[in-house]
Amino acid sequence: MVARVVPVDPFDLVVFGATGDLARRKLIPALYHRMHDGQMPEDARIVGVARAQLDAEGYRRMAEAALDEFGGEDARDAEMRRKFLATIDYVPLDVMEEAGWSRLKDALPTACGDRPRAFYLSVAPRFFGPIAEGVHAAGLTDANSRIVIEKPLGHDLASAAALNGVFAGHFSEHQIFRIDHYLGKETVQNLMALRFANAFFEPLWNARHIDHVQITVAEKVGVEGRGPYYDGIGAMRDMVQNHLLQLLCLVAMEPPSQFEPDAVRDEKLKVLRALAPLTRLEDVVRGQYAAGPGMPSYVEDANAPTSRTETFIALKAEVANWRWAGVPFYLRTGKRMKSRVSEVAVVFKSAPHSIFPAASGRAAQNVLALRLQPDEAITLGMTIKEPGPGGMRLAPAVLDMTFADTLGASNMRMPDAYERLVMDVIRGDQTLFMRGDEVEAAWAWVDAITARVDGERPELYEPGSAGPDDALMLMHRDGRRWRELAQ
Ligand code: NDP
Ligand code: BG6
Repeated sequence: MVARVVPVDPFDLVVFGATGDLARRKLIPALYHRMHDGQMPEDARIVGVARAQLDAEGYRRMAEAALDEFGGEDARDAEMRRKFLATIDYVPLDVMEEAGWSRLKDALPTACGDRPRAFYLSVAPRFFGPIAEGVHAAGLTDANSRIVIEKPLGHDLASAAALNGVFAGHFSEHQIFRIDHYLGKETVQNLMALRFANAFFEPLWNARHIDHVQITVAEKVGVEGRGPYYDGIGAMRDMVQNHLLQLLCLVAMEPPSQFEPDAVRDEKLKVLRALAPLTRLEDVVRGQYAAGPGMPSYVEDANAPTSRTETFIALKAEVANWRWAGVPFYLRTGKRMKSRVSEVAVVFKSAPHSIFPAASGRAAQNVLALRLQPDEAITLGMTIKEPGPGGMRLAPAVLDMTFADTLGASNMRMPDAYERLVMDVIRGDQTLFMRGDEVEAAWAWVDAITARVDGERPELYEPGSAGPDDALMLMHRDGRRWRELAQ
């Protein structure tokens, strides 16, 4: 299968924090792949900014090293590399000091003209305000410019609102691109295609037919070197407030009238505002990974011996509206778990009456599962007759649409989420980006929970497990169980 690409217009992209981890691991490779696939034009201009005293050639060498490490097979194309690196310039600048901004001005024409100009803030949030102010004061912005920001978008409602205020001072909402990289993942976009491009799901997509929804984002890795960022933040703020709630929104939202940014985001916002306050403390389970054979505990990883930060959280949420009344949404996410699995599973109610004798066995509930990673797939768990003689014996079977097999995509490289998102920034398409009011609504719901559970001691769990035992109880109490985390 050959992916079709629509080239974008020439653009300017200024990457603040160009020497950092995100820029080297994700942004540079993403841009390269877009040029390799014919989407990014050769007269695009990428300007890296950081304090490191490099010249353009020095930074290009750093970008090349990033391609070697993170660019995969496509990055070996010498001619393409040459063309790509030719689009890159670099400006050493400490954004906290006034002096360097004139160098950035020199590297860019003052007016954007017809070229979209994006400022990508791949830096710590304390620099967001000074950069928004700096590019504005340097006269580098106009109606065709946009600003891209990364999580963390605040750590609670008040800080998120303050951050929204900082950007609102210099940019209109349609110029602000808040990245949640989960929205750029292939299967996440597929959730919308599945729901709204197929007629037969919609009549079943409600509390009459759906028993519950499970959203899991399990990681095998621990916090690695990210302790200073992670400690005091934890899984609720790092993962649930953004990625898991965005997935929940896409499952629960009403069909937007068009696939258009505000139509989609209005519907997601309604879901966030319909989340029932979580009143029962037993509906939240917090865990922290303990040490295992050859593996340090979280408190060792984070070098925070008395930390009560959770590295795992499971909770039961409810969307209080007509469509979803009484349907629990079970969310769980954790680090150092048994396997790396991210999936959304929609579990349907059992058939209302069984016509088969007990000896036939029981029909399993139908489960529509969207696997985000690894091996992007959509599967539908069904019950069929076991093949062969021996009477009517019911057996589970799975309709499996693993993308690599079914779409002839086994040789196709799955684009990273950042490839789609960066090109959408250039196109000015905000559909897969969070609006300021969405971010605030998500924090409002999360704040009410963290206010009650922060500071409580999290339950320790074994590394390589499915999380703390209480997380299993969260579902067992309701007569349900989590889906297995495959190895
Ligand atoms: P790093 O610490 O690796 O990089 C920070 C960058 O900022 C460096 O290029 C640094 O270069 C530059 N910088 C620091 N101070 C200044 C300054 N005063 N003026 C100009 N540049 C400066 O961070 P990451 O790349 O990991 O993360 C960047 C942002 O993206 C953070 O907000 C992070 O939370 C977010 N993020 C990161 C993800 C990731 O995968 N890494 C994922 C999701 C979000 P120098 O020291 O040379 O100035
Ligand atoms: C980031 C979190 O947003 O998402 C990390 O800050 C987490 O803690 C990461 O590891 C997971 O992303 P992915 O794409 O690897 O599932």
